Amino acid sequence: MSESKGVTLWFTGLSGSGKTTIANLLVRDLLSRGSKLEVLDGDVVRENLSKGLGFSKEDRDTNIRRIAFVANLLSRNGVPVITAAISPYREIRDEARQMMDERFIEIYVKASVEACEERDVKGLYAKARSGEIKEFTGVSDPYEEPLNPEIIVETERQTPEESARQILDFLEAEGFIPKR
Ligand SMILES: Nc1ncnc2c1ncn2[C@@H]1O[C@H](COP(=O)(O)OP(=O)(O)OP(=O)(O)O)[C@@H](O)[C@H]1O
Ligand SMILES: [Mg+2]
Repeated sequence: MSESKGVTLWFTGLSGSGKTTIANLLVRDLLSRGSKLEVLDGDVVRENLSKGLGFSKEDRDTNIRRIAFVANLLSRNGVPVITAAISPYREIRDEARQMMDERFIEIYVKASVEACEERDVKGLYAKARSGEIKEFTGVSDPYEEPLNPEIIVETERQTPEESARQILDFLEAEGFIPKR
């Protein structure tokens, strides 16, 4: 099997909600099926494509528009793409959706601020609370929940494997990847 359909799996959710963790599980599964695949992870993008951008509303919007631009280029050429950036603003996510139309699958990686703060994988919440980091999503900057995402994974109630399985089931059911 190497027929893949162009699709963008647009992850959105708070820092520490599980975007990168679940994306990595999907990568493993999709590659094992022989699928083409590209990943645009927020942390990686900010080191290159968006190097130098900060966390003001304007810079965040620019960052997300760049990710959407690249995801569109790839997905329209038949390459499945996973984006894993916080993408806190609804308006810019909806812009990306309009650009990619039926190739756009919004996945809300849902966890409360409290749960993410408890995990504090990168120690960022502690820095946000102490004021060392300003404009931190969920603490001192807004996160606008998706209103109609194609998929919601509840990472406080599921294991990462269950969340990944839920997404794969959706992709199979919708014909984006062959059933196995
Ligand atoms: N169901 C779940 N899905 C994903 N992660 C989970 C789940 N349950 C617990 N976790 C844990 O939550 C943490 C999520 O961290 P991760 O780096 O994936 O978040 P992120 O959304 O990519 O954050 P950031 O926006 O800062 O990059 C990991 O430590 C992971 O083990
Ligand atoms: Mg991440």
